[in-house]
Amino acid sequence: MNDLNHSNVPKPAAPSAATDAATDAANAATSNASAIDTDVIVLGAGAAGMMCGLTAGANGRRVIILDHAKRIAEKIRISGGGRCNFTNYFASPDQFLSANGHFCKSALRQYTQQDFIAMMRRHKIAFHEKKLGQLFCDHSAQNVIDMLVQECADVGAQIMMETTIDGVEHLPDGAFLVTTSRGWIRATSLVIATGGLSIPKIGATGIGYDLATQFGLAVTPRTAALVPLTFDDSILNLCRDLSGLSVDAEVQWGKASFAEGLLFTHRGLSGPSILQISSYWEPDTPITINLAPSFDVTAALLDRKRSHPKQDAATVLTDGLPKRLAQALCDLHSVSGRLADLSDKALTKLGQGVNAWRIIPNGTEGYRTAEVTLGGVDTTSLSSKTMQAKDIPGLYFIGEVVDVTGYLGGYNFQWAWSSGYVAGMNA
Ligand code: FDA
Repeated sequence: MNDLNHSNVPKPAAPSAATDAATDAANAATSNASAIDTDVIVLGAGAAGMMCGLTAGANGRRVIILDHAKRIAEKIRISGGGRCNFTNYFASPDQFLSANGHFCKSALRQYTQQDFIAMMRRHKIAFHEKKLGQLFCDHSAQNVIDMLVQECADVGAQIMMETTIDGVEHLPDGAFLVTTSRGWIRATSLVIATGGLSIPKIGATGIGYDLATQFGLAVTPRTAALVPLTFDDSILNLCRDLSGLSVDAEVQWGKASFAEGLLFTHRGLSGPSILQISSYWEPDTPITINLAPSFDVTAALLDRKRSHPKQDAATVLTDGLPKRLAQALCDLHSVSGRLADLSDKALTKLGQGVNAWRIIPNGTEGYRTAEVTLGGVDTTSLSSKTMQAKDIPGLYFIGEVVDVTGYLGGYNFQWAWSSGYVAGMNA
């Protein structure tokens, strides 16, 4: 193996003009490398990987970030409808799911949402709070990508895109040797930041879990989360008929409950409240939906039966629901005709069907559309203070590949920033 001193590898061009130009330059600079010695190799140039790289670089470490994708940080680019919900004012450990609810605390404390906001301000990136503390770029998610690439370039952290990872070896001296399509790279620290399984068409793979297994770390069961729910025929037909319609709803599974928007689609149910509950939902169990949280439908139906007996039920429902939905729910529960002709029992059943609609999803849309992967590298194998594998000095796991999953609303990026930062401080 030839040794190629990292300091001989030219720095990538400044990315502020165009991120693609910067990564192309880094690729060109390194495309002939057959072997490189460095301090830190980061696998994955996504949110967590770049945060780790720029932090380790700022600490004087020689860093190489590898990624097989053509374009850098695609998930940041498509996030938040193209505006990247990059953090949340209210981020705290309560909004994260993990087999160990305490694990995320240290990283979130070491690098907070205010730290990331300060970096955004330093780069003069305009942002705003949309709702519930969710912060979005005013212009484009590309601003966040350019900022991270710029920060990496400023500290000499190399980004090599379109680089296939063919294998990782743990050498007898404790170093790590990564075999890539561009040659070998050797380092004393290896950081796995290859993300989860969602959206395979933009580069998601399970390599991070495979590497964890290779190094003897446990991986908890994984499932698509923050994902739309799908249904069998009767509910699916209703969803299709109402496709595009949204209401403010309260969705519940077990003790978890979310009051946010709900959207009917031609595949089932989506919208923030459904995505949030999908992280809790277990197959073959019902969810309960209150389609009109501020409207006691049973009371209104029984009251109106006495005061306006000639009215029909759908008219009463329009007091708190869009007309299309009101009629569809009456049809679903086979309620028609004058209130006077309907039993109190039938009206009560319809009221429950609106305020406590119990339905069993037949599945989710899966990794094709899921925002995140629930589960991942078992946190019992990792130090929460450094993200280092407890039994393998120099090996780190960060970001979504770890069994820490945030709520919808900027929390998953905050986990990527926080875990990336602490690994970067220690790698
Ligand atoms: P990330 O997936 O960002 O990066 C992993 C990198 O590893 C990728 O660049 C990939 O190419 C690379 N990689 C994978 N396999 C590899 C291999 N075999 N070899 C080499 N490289 C490999 N969160 C949030 O907080 N706010 C939001 O607005 C959104 N919006 C959103 C929208 C959509 C459509 C999705 C799918 C997701 C979100 N998220 C989100 C979630 C957020 O994008 C996600 O949690 C973070 O990107 C995770 O960051 P990581 O760096 O861990 O993985």
